[in-house]
Amino acid sequence: MPILVDEQTKTFHLQTKSTSYIFAIYCGRYPVHLHYGKKVKDIGAIDTIIDFTGRASFAPESAAYLGMDGSTAEDTGSIEALPMEYAFYGHPDLRTPSFHAQYANGSTITAPEYIGYRIYAGKKPLKGLPATYVESDSEADTLEMDFKDPLTGLVLTLQYSVFTNYDAITRSVYIQNTGKDIINIKSVMSANVDFYGKNYTLTHLDGSWARERHIHSQPVTNGFQGIDSKRGASSHVHNPFIALSEVSAGENYGDVYGFNFVYSGNFIAEAYVDQSDITRVMMGLNPFDFNWKLESGEDFQAPEVVMVYSSEGFGQMSRIFHRLYRKRLCRGKFRDAERPVLINNWEATYFNFNEEKIVNIAKTAKSVGVDLMVLDDGWFGKRDTDNCSLGDWVADKKKLPNGIPGLAKKIQSLGMQFGLWFEPEMVSPDSDLFRAHPDWCLHVDGRRMSLGRKQLILDFSRADVCDYIINALSDVLSGAPINYVKWDMNRNMSEIGSVLLPADRQRETAHRYMLGLYRVMETLTSRFPDVLFEGCSGGGGRFDAGMLYYMPQIWTSDDSDAIERLFIQYGTSMVYPSGTMGAHVSAVPNHQVHRVTPIGTRGNVAMAGQFGYELDLGLLSKAERTEVAEQIKTYKSIRNVIHNGDLYRLRSPFECNHMALEFVSEDKNTAIFCYYSILGKPNSVVDRIRLEGLDPDGVYVLQENGAEFGGDRLMNLGLNMKDKEDFASKVYVFHKK
Ligand code: GLA
Repeated sequence: MPILVDEQTKTFHLQTKSTSYIFAIYCGRYPVHLHYGKKVKDIGAIDTIIDFTGRASFAPESAAYLGMDGSTAEDTGSIEALPMEYAFYGHPDLRTPSFHAQYANGSTITAPEYIGYRIYAGKKPLKGLPATYVESDSEADTLEMDFKDPLTGLVLTLQYSVFTNYDAITRSVYIQNTGKDIINIKSVMSANVDFYGKNYTLTHLDGSWARERHIHSQPVTNGFQGIDSKRGASSHVHNPFIALSEVSAGENYGDVYGFNFVYSGNFIAEAYVDQSDITRVMMGLNPFDFNWKLESGEDFQAPEVVMVYSSEGFGQMSRIFHRLYRKRLCRGKFRDAERPVLINNWEATYFNFNEEKIVNIAKTAKSVGVDLMVLDDGWFGKRDTDNCSLGDWVADKKKLPNGIPGLAKKIQSLGMQFGLWFEPEMVSPDSDLFRAHPDWCLHVDGRRMSLGRKQLILDFSRADVCDYIINALSDVLSGAPINYVKWDMNRNMSEIGSVLLPADRQRETAHRYMLGLYRVMETLTSRFPDVLFEGCSGGGGRFDAGMLYYMPQIWTSDDSDAIERLFIQYGTSMVYPSGTMGAHVSAVPNHQVHRVTPIGTRGNVAMAGQFGYELDLGLLSKAERTEVAEQIKTYKSIRNVIHNGDLYRLRSPFECNHMALEFVSEDKNTAIFCYYSILGKPNSVVDRIRLEGLDPDGVYVLQENGAEFGGDRLMNLGLNMKDKEDFASKVYVFHKK
């Protein structure tokens, strides 16, 4: 049983394949954290691992209080000196709480008592939110633990699901107002874990448009450190992921704790070191500009945090996230399917296309083995630039005289699939939609509405707006044979407000927007199960686990330069599997950084994701087109291992002049070694790179020349690699004999 309970001491022990996560209820009300890390069978007496008499200066005692009836309790230690499992504001833990609310009398004190718990096999969906899931109840066990504040009727439930074999634990929080008065939730963290000590490193993924998810690490020190988003999207700037690791941890060794938020909007992820050198990790909805009014009888579900512990460094942490997300976060028929190799016309034509041009691009693409033609921005309204027509999802007959159905049929008659770009959450001021419904965008009456890329954001906190978009997209998707949708979102939120919400609910707008968006995505993806949806937000501005629940792949970055992509894809792989990363070969000089890289390397970089092209293949030389055809053949022969195998990051571009990745199939029968040089070096030195995850007793045959290598030899001696030329690359495929 992966959840063990000691009724005597009220100790709860969650066990995955290799992890133990333990906490206990102290004084009938305080959940105290005892252990997160390597698995143990039993922890023995609690007071041998925790000192309940410890004091934090100036903090009140845990259980010395003056009750309303004049009763007193003895002096004890302070809970502020303890690692807590969840902390309420208004009790003797004076650190930043995990939960903060305001009640009818104006007070913000929450003093809940432990009520009880339930354990059941399986995992329930989270109401209205994306989350990991089970396909059979045997895959996970769930613990729900209730705390009730007798004065206000607030009931807060800590929710834990233990994915035993996937080796991960998920957490979230569910709140009910069982009292008669309103409760205003001001802050609710989905997870709080307090670790002894402060000798840690904090790692996160940060950047900007076109350089998303670069890896940054910092030593943890006293006080606050962390990341957040207040932008109305998880954002290019910080990804909703942090890892706390022991200082000496590396790719293959050391304790690493990964936390990932399954949410696409404003979030916070922090580490705080207190006066007792306890490091508190918190993750949840960003409390900044947030308030949720909970009427009597109402409930609130906080989003999920996925927690992964690895005793074997960052590599193992990532592999656990990848396995879980591939199978129990992504959904739908495309989850396990080999997805089409696509060509997208954006960088080939931008807005300047017509039906003939698109059909010609498709024809050439078909001749080299591409499966899917994606028509990007500019097909609707009168959109010849980015200054108009978002919201008017009707084909521009000037460019497409036969409309979307006519074009789709032409593409399909070539033996290809057809895909279409939308930006459903946006509206241009110059659009019929905006002229008809000027109050349908996020805004605050009397304030100016800041434009971003000349557009405004539709108010998805409104059910009527969401329903309109569901219908508008459904009309297009059911009116033509469309196989794929690229769902874009090209600006962040400012002047966040909704005209339909009353004054005391305005600060709910950003979260209500996300709930509305998730409803729209749930409806459309289930209404059109045969359509492959790819997420996008100016590239990877919303590359998060929330989106992956609805769309199994996301356009990783608007930067399609092969060398820039090394960094972006490497950083993204910290959490997200290769099969979720849209990756295209584009033209040179590259449109973002003007770099010229060989077509072979552009292909080898894109092959480490969901492969595609984003250029007019007709403009390549014949020799290059032949190479492209070969690339597609190679990719199709190895994609199963790349998307479903284990990833070993062998060299980081953040640490040296090259990057090396290895993908190994689950049965260890195939290994793909990818090497990418950044700059060529004179008299270049050898880097001997050891492979990992192979069968040491197996013999592996190198596909390109039939050379044979023992698995032990590849893992213990490695391959000698050199950076001889700028932007060179190599992909070796090994098959076990
Ligand atoms: C965003 C996307 C691009 C492209 C353009 C179209 O920037 O990330 O791939 O679709 O929008 O306007």
